[in-house]
Amino acid sequence: MNINPQFNSKQVKAVAHANIALVKYWGKRSVEKNLPAVGSVSLTLDALKTITSVAFDEELHSDVFILNDDVVTGKQADKISAFADLMVGTERPKIRVESDNNFPTGAGLASSASAFAALAKAMNEACSLGLDDKMLSIFARQGSGSAARSIFGGFAEMNLGDDDSGNGDYAHQLHDENYWDIRLLAAVVSTGPKEIGSTEGMNRTAETSPFYNAWVQSSPNDIKEMKAALAHKDFEKLGTLAEHSAMKMHGLALSANPSILYWQAASLESIQRVWGLRKQGLPAYITMDAGPQVKVITLPQYANEVKNALIELPGVSNVIEAKPGPGAYILKD
Ligand code: PMV
Repeated sequence: MNINPQFNSKQVKAVAHANIALVKYWGKRSVEKNLPAVGSVSLTLDALKTITSVAFDEELHSDVFILNDDVVTGKQADKISAFADLMVGTERPKIRVESDNNFPTGAGLASSASAFAALAKAMNEACSLGLDDKMLSIFARQGSGSAARSIFGGFAEMNLGDDDSGNGDYAHQLHDENYWDIRLLAAVVSTGPKEIGSTEGMNRTAETSPFYNAWVQSSPNDIKEMKAALAHKDFEKLGTLAEHSAMKMHGLALSANPSILYWQAASLESIQRVWGLRKQGLPAYITMDAGPQVKVITLPQYANEVKNALIELPGVSNVIEAKPGPGAYILKD
């Protein structure tokens, strides 16, 4: 690849949205290169966004990372510097990265997905790299697996490469954000940072769960079926598969040794509430990531009823409603 970066001192701003996996990614076939062991299918969410600005500064002695107005140091900041090195090399001026999330960071609301997609997009512009979305997705993946999907709007699929080069592990768009208006309601039960990060959780699962191989083997069929559900706009099929994939992932995490349990009491209450609604005929299905938040997939005409049912629960502090959102883009001033 011929990357010849120009280091622009002018601030460049990019926006990327979080995404929710309808078929989950859990497990890495290479930890070092961050290559997923399974593919995944996702929905990009308009309501959960990260705005990231980058500027190179010859005067700086070290990189600066500001997250939601606070200066961040340590591991999190090192990850941002390493990502900048990865995209443009170590012979670069120091960089100032400012990032704002309009939702709780690191609480299982996919902040790493929007963060690395926005950073890849902003770096591409700031350094005039001219990378296409496939290459941006390959870079974003190296920051966080799910970030590869947030480059794209609407519904995206993460491909698995045939080898361990990483060149085949990127996402592509299945349908854009105007294809099908479905809704995702995130019941926020806790806004604190999660206890076991996804990388640690995935590695422990792969190393210790007796069910891990079955998880990897069953994934391609889930992806195939989900793509068919999307192609036919079959909501019942989409919801059933998404709930199954999430439950299978959490069952897998529970089967790790020691067990990984991301749920809190309010998570279980939210699930039971949604299942109760479904018994009454309302099309609503749950999904969950590496955190306690329960996310409910439903159709627009039922969104208010689901929202009201969730907000009533004592452990639920807030319900965020999202619809299909756009891919990463540059914010012009
Ligand atoms: O992108 P990561 O490394 O934080 O992993 C994401 C894992 C899940 O959110 C649980 C599932 C997924 O496919 O997004």
